[in-house]
Amino acid sequence: MSNDPLLQPYKINNLTLRNRIIMTAHEPAYPEDGMPKGRYRAYHVERAKGGVAMTMTAGSAAVSKDSPPVFNNLLVYKDEVVPWMKDLTDAVHEHGAAIMIQLTHLGRRTRWDKGNWLPVVSPSHHREAAHRAFPKKMEDWDIERIIKDYADAAERMKAGGMDGIELQAYGHLMDQFWSPLTNELDGPYGGSLDNRLRFTFDVLGEIRKRVGPDFIVGMRYTGDELLENGLTREDGLEISRRLKESGMVDFLNVVRGHIDTDAGLTDTIPIQGMQNNPHLDFAGEIRAATDFPVFHAAKISDVATARHAITSGKVDLVGMTRAHMTDPHIVRKIIDKREDEIRPCVGANYCLDRIYQGGSAYCIHNAATGREETMPHEIAQAEGRKKVVIVGAGPGGLEAARVAGERGHEVVVFEAANQPGGQIRLTAQSERRREMISIIDWRMTQCERLGVRFQFNTYAEIEEIEAETPDVVVIATGGLPHTEVLSEGNEHLISAWDIISGDVKPGKNVLVYDDAGDHAGLQAAEIIAKTGARVEIMTPDRAFAPEVMAMNLVPYMRTLQKLDTAFTVTYRLQAVEKTGTGLKAHIGSDYGGVAQQREFDQIIVNHGVVPMDDLYFDLKPGSSNQGEISHDQLLAGQPQSVQRNSEGSYQLFRIGDAVSARNTHAAIYDALRLMKDI
Ligand SMILES: Cc1cc2nc3c(=O)[nH]c(=O)nc-3n(C[C@H](O)[C@H](O)[C@H](O)COP(=O)(O)O)c2cc1C
Ligand code: SF4
Repeated sequence: MSNDPLLQPYKINNLTLRNRIIMTAHEPAYPEDGMPKGRYRAYHVERAKGGVAMTMTAGSAAVSKDSPPVFNNLLVYKDEVVPWMKDLTDAVHEHGAAIMIQLTHLGRRTRWDKGNWLPVVSPSHHREAAHRAFPKKMEDWDIERIIKDYADAAERMKAGGMDGIELQAYGHLMDQFWSPLTNELDGPYGGSLDNRLRFTFDVLGEIRKRVGPDFIVGMRYTGDELLENGLTREDGLEISRRLKESGMVDFLNVVRGHIDTDAGLTDTIPIQGMQNNPHLDFAGEIRAATDFPVFHAAKISDVATARHAITSGKVDLVGMTRAHMTDPHIVRKIIDKREDEIRPCVGANYCLDRIYQGGSAYCIHNAATGREETMPHEIAQAEGRKKVVIVGAGPGGLEAARVAGERGHEVVVFEAANQPGGQIRLTAQSERRREMISIIDWRMTQCERLGVRFQFNTYAEIEEIEAETPDVVVIATGGLPHTEVLSEGNEHLISAWDIISGDVKPGKNVLVYDDAGDHAGLQAAEIIAKTGARVEIMTPDRAFAPEVMAMNLVPYMRTLQKLDTAFTVTYRLQAVEKTGTGLKAHIGSDYGGVAQQREFDQIIVNHGVVPMDDLYFDLKPGSSNQGEISHDQLLAGQPQSVQRNSEGSYQLFRIGDAVSARNTHAAIYDALRLMKDI
């Protein structure tokens, strides 16, 4: 048996886990009608196959009808959930992993205009900033009803074959009772700490009556709200001791912080550029104070840190949650001594931000996550070997090269620059987003292993391509900044990329006109503002930077607000003219009736990219399919067989921004779903 501390078994109650690595609760928003159906099952089964010890499903599964999901959560207050749970737990158990589920009542952390349109409830009327609902202050019958709901849900989960449950108490109803900031009830459920904890112990007591002593019940809770007048570290330690002493819980899953604002949530679940494992020591303090099983997750993304978390005795089980969204096979790779092949989580937080904005979680650079029913995490060998030529070594081109290599094809990549990366290399110029370069580095390592040939510093023309006598050509040339956005004066505009790359020096009084609303605009603004320049970000939209999304916005705001950046929404830059002293911006509005003129010395624009598609159109006549991709075959997972030109000697495909301005995930998904069947 291995002596790797991460691979040692761990016993909790009557359950023996096969190693120390778990996925903590994370609702990827894959339920269908509130049930864990095929997609849900396939997602967790892939991680079970990959060796994880335990997967904590759901995240915020709703125990009551007045806890409507805010991001498509499981509805465990319904009896019909039991057979779906049984299918899920059986399928995960088949691969040797344990499976549990997080249950909750969201309290005020939801909206009244979702689900059943019942009033939102909490132990006070205080609104949560993030979800905006003004709650009803709970009455005795609300409390009795919800205690019973928890116990009913726990019983359903046991019937569904779960190994255990955990109750969520950070930002949700349970710790809304705990925190003096959100509990304004009089006794017996408000006032002293004893009273504020009464709801939790009543729930635990009722659950234990239903599930007995052998079923695992744990608590995921904040041990320090990090909020003025909120729960303190001392409160957290006291609560931890009381939970242990109650004899009703089997583990403590420790969190630190508060999640009632985007900024609070981001400190609790840090993203790229923020400190790694910031709360691990705190979890260790709770373990030391209680000598009780402690779980913890918060940006422990690499195996070395996870190993340290276990060897140092800070935790008993280490959560690598987003890390498993990026690579479901972490444990298997550790066992096989292939740690260097683990696809790294880069903390982009596309996954978590998307559950609110995009409807379901996707990993920025693993397009198979959440699509396990149609996209493979492991690529099958093709029957015949083809010669595949790829033009462009950005994320899309490299994914195409990697997948083609895994298929067993001979692969050549042409890249005009002297190194790979495309737009990602620009993104990674910012210290805070440096981790993004691992998207490229990981693919380069895979390509090297697969024998992919690279030709850098090569601006490929039709001759170079044809000289390779390819069977398949993939154009992944990306795009160039689109700056033709004005009725007059486009020549005075500078692209956001020019600032990020350092090709253009920032001015002193700068307008960043950003109607693409993605990272490039804010990234350029941050670079400029840091030089001491005055910066105004303007958009014609209702909100700025909508594509950046909630948690990703936090670090930008922390910098930009300190540097006094101005944000102007709903105004449209129409024209720019040069004056004796600088640039005059003519500003209007889609709402009409506005004609402002303002002076700046530099105007930056972020308006996506124009595809670099010359080579594609040059190659089109010589191709057999004339560049056409059969959408039917693509979506059905079948090889491409379009024939439009019997003289054509190769199939030609175009992916990523070379087609139209999108994002990194889209480029990688384009590449994976096309190449897996070539
Ligand atoms: C898509 C997604 C959904 C999440 N939903 C929940 C949730 O419902 N309940 C919860 O306690 N934590 C939730 N989390 C937080 C994770 O359990 C974990 O604490 C967090 O991702 C930090 O760990 P990591 O750095 O290993 O990913 C979610 C995380 C992600 C990525
Ligand atoms: S999107 Fe980013 S943070 Fe989320 S799993 Fe993928 S790499 Fe990790």
